[in-house]
Amino acid sequence: LSNRRIIDPIRNPDSDFSLNAKKGSRAVAERRSKEVHKAKMEETNDLTGTAIGQIIGLKDGEKTAVSQSTDSSNNLENSKENFESIQRVRKTLPAFKARSELLQIIRDNQVIVVIGETGSGKTTQLAQFLEEDGYCNGGQLIGCTQPRRVAAISVATRVAMEKGVKLGNEVGYSIRFEDKTTSRTKIKFMTDGILLRETLMSTMLEKYSCIIMDEAHERSLNTDILFGIFKNLLAIRRDLKLIITSATMNANKFSQFFGGSPMFTIPGRTFPVETVFSRHPVSDYVESAILQASKIHLSSPVSSGDILIFMTGQEDIEATCAGLREKLSEINTKKRLGNMESTELNDIEILPIYSALPADVQGKIFNCTPNKRKVVVATNIAETSLTVDGVKYVIDCGYSKLKVYNPQIGLDILQIAPISMASANQRSGRAGRTGPGIAYRLYTEDSFFDDMYVQTIPEIQRTNLSNTLLLLKYLGVKDVLAFPFVDPPPEQIVMSSLFELWTVGALDNFGKLTELGGQMASFPLQPSLSKMLLSASQSGCSEEVLTIVSMLSVPQIFYRPKERQEESDQARTRFFVPESDHLTLLNVFSQWKANNFSSAWCRRNFLQFKSLQRAKSIRDQLRTLMEKKRIIIVSSGTDWDIIRKCVCSGYAHQAARLSGLNKYVHLRNGLELRIHPASALFRAGDLPPYVVYHEMLLTSNEYINTVTAVDPFWLMKYGLLFYNVSRRREDVEDSGIYADESPERIKDNLDLSIEQCMMKKEIVKQKLLK
Ligand code: CDP
Ligand code: MG
Repeated sequence: LSNRRIIDPIRNPDSDFSLNAKKGSRAVAERRSKEVHKAKMEETNDLTGTAIGQIIGLKDGEKTAVSQSTDSSNNLENSKENFESIQRVRKTLPAFKARSELLQIIRDNQVIVVIGETGSGKTTQLAQFLEEDGYCNGGQLIGCTQPRRVAAISVATRVAMEKGVKLGNEVGYSIRFEDKTTSRTKIKFMTDGILLRETLMSTMLEKYSCIIMDEAHERSLNTDILFGIFKNLLAIRRDLKLIITSATMNANKFSQFFGGSPMFTIPGRTFPVETVFSRHPVSDYVESAILQASKIHLSSPVSSGDILIFMTGQEDIEATCAGLREKLSEINTKKRLGNMESTELNDIEILPIYSALPADVQGKIFNCTPNKRKVVVATNIAETSLTVDGVKYVIDCGYSKLKVYNPQIGLDILQIAPISMASANQRSGRAGRTGPGIAYRLYTEDSFFDDMYVQTIPEIQRTNLSNTLLLLKYLGVKDVLAFPFVDPPPEQIVMSSLFELWTVGALDNFGKLTELGGQMASFPLQPSLSKMLLSASQSGCSEEVLTIVSMLSVPQIFYRPKERQEESDQARTRFFVPESDHLTLLNVFSQWKANNFSSAWCRRNFLQFKSLQRAKSIRDQLRTLMEKKRIIIVSSGTDWDIIRKCVCSGYAHQAARLSGLNKYVHLRNGLELRIHPASALFRAGDLPPYVVYHEMLLTSNEYINTVTAVDPFWLMKYGLLFYNVSRRREDVEDSGIYADESPERIKDNLDLSIEQCMMKKEIVKQKLLK
């Protein structure tokens, strides 16, 4: 695709992925990378939360920052005029016209696949129809799952508004760590991860009369797993209705998976869309998109329609928005100099949409300002999940961010990769909802056919499955390879993920869930964090680790406004604990607590009050869970070394050793790494010889982020299975032995272990396979 060849990790799974990943992202983002970096530095601690994406219940790239959503919804909620006009609009939706037919087919069948064009009203109408048809009369709920949390909140808000009720009562939503439902709730929107977790607690899902699995064509990991679970569940709960909604792709597959269940297509009208390919490969899709959008804006009247631009993620989106503004104001100035009328900036509204954006800003894409042209710059969330009405022009960069797991190096990598043909067509189709449209594709026709897959590879076939397999084991699935998958994951990924669970002690040598594994599964956290929390309870510092884990679950603790960067940086360093970013987070929270959780104090110290509040709420929820499970909650007082040991025990598989100036090597796969400049360790001067990290960022350099200095002895102890391959367990447990050991010996041992670890992995895998 384009003259920047992308190395395709899925097509070349055996290639040296670490290199390819680098080359790939370099190739795409060569010029961008500097800007991306700049942007990253500017928001430094926004990054803290990013790796949490691995947690079950969260799709990648979907972080929090959506908690304010309810405030904005409530303002709108009961304006009568608004209500009536909404009802009018509702009746024009294709789904509305198919209402009675749909309800009949649902009455007659247990599983139904509903197909409809995006924007036909599947998400917002179906649940309402079901409720009106009496499916909540027995006190049961209608549940509707979404692969994205942003969508879950947005549609719940919309449906509450359509029904004229307060969000959180009759219509509510639930996403990880945020439950906006009450006992009165009848329609519940949630992420697919939440429903998956609910099946752990209540395997029969008794409280639901109907489940709508929305956006099934997206093939998110959790939706795919739910399919397998439903296959058995529906045979037992004959009264439970399952409605699968899908864009046209994959619908057949779902129907067949459930024994040929009926498919219902919502008839809908779409308008022709002309697709215009780029004649030559573009060298920078952001620049091309800016050019194309300004061209459209300058050459066609505002009333002709809005523009929707597809970009890969936050950085690209922000660069596009800023670039477009700049471009138009340049033109404005030129015109003014030539005494010409200039309105280019006055009659345009440029709106970004991505998951980390606060919900009130997200909501703006649905508002219309008369006499203004909307330019929405979005991630693939606008492909099917959200419909912006009035779009006539689509500009498609041809890429999206994709999480890809490489079993060889054991890493999930978020990478910019070409979209599939199906996605490209879906994107183009967005231009033809209200009238004929034009889609500008920023790639050549050749690359459309040569470089794109027909369909996107389902997530289950390309991501790390350890969290998911842990849940399946918890659900009592003995042989995970025999689980009814719609599309089975590659065996290599399954094995590698099982291996990872084994190394953290969640599985025993026979692949059975250990007690520790069971406890880990019951926390809505990624395994390394739940392991850290559980070991903290044994070592006597669970109060502190509880705080750290909660702080890691929210983005943007530190506030760094552009105009006051130096001042805010200084404020931040006051919280630094030189040997650990994890302890720095703990320090921030403790001081906030000592200041009565004050918001004024946060402002003075350049801290994000909302994020801290959220961390506090997450902390309370996790604390309750621990109490319920009778896990000891105890403070270590002033001993912070114990805490670092626990941090080490959770991340022992993510360790690196200093090698050269400011450079580290990953102990398991030999990747070269750097500590992110925003880290407390970086500021402290001399870098420590060994560190563990919370997450890795792949831009043009590999950065590790949220880092803690550790003692190599600890790595030997907690990372036993990775590093101490030449020793017996007894030796390690009696850590006194190492007191005489020279640091050199330990270093040699750890170095050696990189290779041996790989060998050992093969042996263990063979064992687990049996
Ligand atoms: O799910 P599907 O793509 O079939 O459509 P939908 O999301 O139910 O959207 C139906 C209509 O509601 C569209 O015209 C959307 O623009 C509108 N809608 C809205 O105005 N605000 C929302 N938050 C969600 C949908
Ligand atoms: Mg929908």
